[in-house]
Amino acid sequence: MSGCKFLFMADHHVVDVSDAADAAAYPMWRPGDHAALSRTYEFIGEDPRCRDIDFALFGGDQINCGYMDRPATREAELATYRRTLLSLDLHRRTLGADVVRELDFRAPDSFFCEDNLPGGYVRRPIPFRPPESRVIAIQGNHDTAVADFLRECSFRCGDTRVITFFAEYIALPAPPGRFRSTARISDEAVGFIEREMAAAAADRTIRHIVLASHWTPVLSDPRFIWPILDACPENGWSGNRRRLLDIAARFGCDLYLNGHEHSPDWPVGRAGTMRVVNCGSATAQKGESSFAIVEIRDDRAVLDIYSRATAEKAPFGGVDYPSLPRLLFRREIPLHPLR
Ligand SMILES: [Fe+2]
Repeated sequence: MSGCKFLFMADHHVVDVSDAADAAAYPMWRPGDHAALSRTYEFIGEDPRCRDIDFALFGGDQINCGYMDRPATREAELATYRRTLLSLDLHRRTLGADVVRELDFRAPDSFFCEDNLPGGYVRRPIPFRPPESRVIAIQGNHDTAVADFLRECSFRCGDTRVITFFAEYIALPAPPGRFRSTARISDEAVGFIEREMAAAAADRTIRHIVLASHWTPVLSDPRFIWPILDACPENGWSGNRRRLLDIAARFGCDLYLNGHEHSPDWPVGRAGTMRVVNCGSATAQKGESSFAIVEIRDDRAVLDIYSRATAEKAPFGGVDYPSLPRLLFRREIPLHPLR
């Protein structure tokens, strides 16, 4: 099998609809958004150009309060996330599949969480849980330490190997009146990426390596706002962003997808030898765009960017959908196959 086709969606920020504080703090969620997301998933399962996807990659921040010490809110958000996901045909038809075998799926046995949880940094092991369907969801800063979502993982589809990683969230001194934040990559994450890329490059049946994370590696580009940084005191002068770029160049990884920035135009930037797509948000917070259907072809990646459905309350407890998803624009990115 050559090539592959998948759904990329990030930054759902599913909130607990009963939590008023959530609703006030995160205005990207408007009345009807849960219904809108369900209808968007239904559309993906019905539309002839979307429905034949091989897997879905969710690029982080699936829920909203995973990083807060509010277990009841986190569980309520997770319950809503899982219930909404049942509207996605791909999820329903692959639920219970042996994804580890089917996708030659690999991940570390556990990860240590030492992120920005209340009460200071904690360090506790979170065991690996295999995905329950062909929906591969990775952590962002709002999913920190939520075991339902993955950090480092690696899987194949056709002649493409996809590798993901987590970057720890850190805060930088902010200019007055502005919040600044960024991310850093751990030595363990870089080690995993290097081993997986080396194995992919040595595998004669792999022609493309795609990297994905919640955070972007693109620096000094105004269209990419919160990049992974290396040499700064807040991350201990780590050189791991540079190591990541060197590894990608060495093993021929030339495509990278990031979430986090809710970027409605899905701009394409560069980091070393990689072309980097700065993706929009599932909730279409800053513009119309919501998700992409990505095709990895021999010499290029084709991303068709769609809007989402919208929903509003109808009389007698019903829901109206004033608009369904539609194709907004396309990004074509040249790829250089490994062989
Ligand atoms: Fe984020």
